[in-house]
Amino acid sequence: MKISNALATEPMRTLKEIPRLAMGFYPTPIEELPRLREALGKNAPRLFIKRDDYTGPGFGGNKVRKLEYVLAQALADEVEVVITIGGIKSNHCRATAAFCARLGLRCILVLNSPAAPSYKPANLFLDELYGAEVHLVTSREERKATMARLAQELRESGVRVAAIPLGASTPLGALGFVSAMQELAQQLSSFADKPNYIFHASSSCGTQAGIVAGAQLAGLSDIKIAGVSPDEAASTIAPEVAEIIRGIGRILKTEIPHEPILVLDDYIGEGYGISTPESSAALRLVAKTEGVVLDPTYTAKAMAGLLDWIRTGKLTRDDTVLFWHTGGQLALFAAH
Ligand SMILES: Cc1ncc(COP(=O)(O)O)c(C=O)c1O
Repeated sequence: MKISNALATEPMRTLKEIPRLAMGFYPTPIEELPRLREALGKNAPRLFIKRDDYTGPGFGGNKVRKLEYVLAQALADEVEVVITIGGIKSNHCRATAAFCARLGLRCILVLNSPAAPSYKPANLFLDELYGAEVHLVTSREERKATMARLAQELRESGVRVAAIPLGASTPLGALGFVSAMQELAQQLSSFADKPNYIFHASSSCGTQAGIVAGAQLAGLSDIKIAGVSPDEAASTIAPEVAEIIRGIGRILKTEIPHEPILVLDDYIGEGYGISTPESSAALRLVAKTEGVVLDPTYTAKAMAGLLDWIRTGKLTRDDTVLFWHTGGQLALFAAH
């Protein structure tokens, strides 16, 4: 596969001018997974993993890349309070709380959980450790309304507030993955066997939007990108990804063409945060063969999708796949 010289294109120059915090450790490593491949049989594709679980502060993960852009803008706007939302084990909220602590910003988190948890999830423990103020609500609808109300009350009292949507999945946040694709293009320039597929978990859509847009802008448009959903239907996620890509185009002042957005929604099982037998088996297999730990909510389901594509022959030894590890392993743990 050719990697064009698009790294120096006009949109990528525009990207460089957009304020970004230097928080993460880049480039995140790319590792090969030979023992996992061997366990999958002779026809398995060559497998690589991009370790965005190692992005750095606040226990890493994909949110670091997005928050570098979103919080740089908040600082430019002289914001005093950051409010955001998520589930009670939210990785995004934990990373936001960590960044806010580091930047000296007050952080308010509105977290939903249908019932009070019988144990303290590690992410919730860290939210509080990082000094965030936590509001617990019972539904997704309520958390959005609560964020809007809290933001309005603060604004009315003269406080400058940034209300960050779910997963920081705005076009600005998704720029983190446009630059990640630029980083990937540089890493792949020394690869003899370049991936023709990327598999990753896709939920609030910013990661996939940034990867798809970044592939176009960084000369990696030959790579097919499969976002595996841990919760929503493909018919919900794909249009949202496309909408964020249009927003990225507006920021970078360019039209971003793309293939139909590929979202796999066959691996959700009973729903968000509920492991399936296949995702649990995938988590165990990758840990046992490669010493790489996935998370139960997102990456294990994405890996279950990849393993299914291999076992059913949709991917073969003629393919090379890059699995993007987006972090989140703290969901495996509770605090004491
Ligand atoms: C560990 C992990 N992986 C993947 C995702 C999905 O990323 P996105 O919300 O940008 O689609 C998330 C967050 O939702 C996450 O926390």
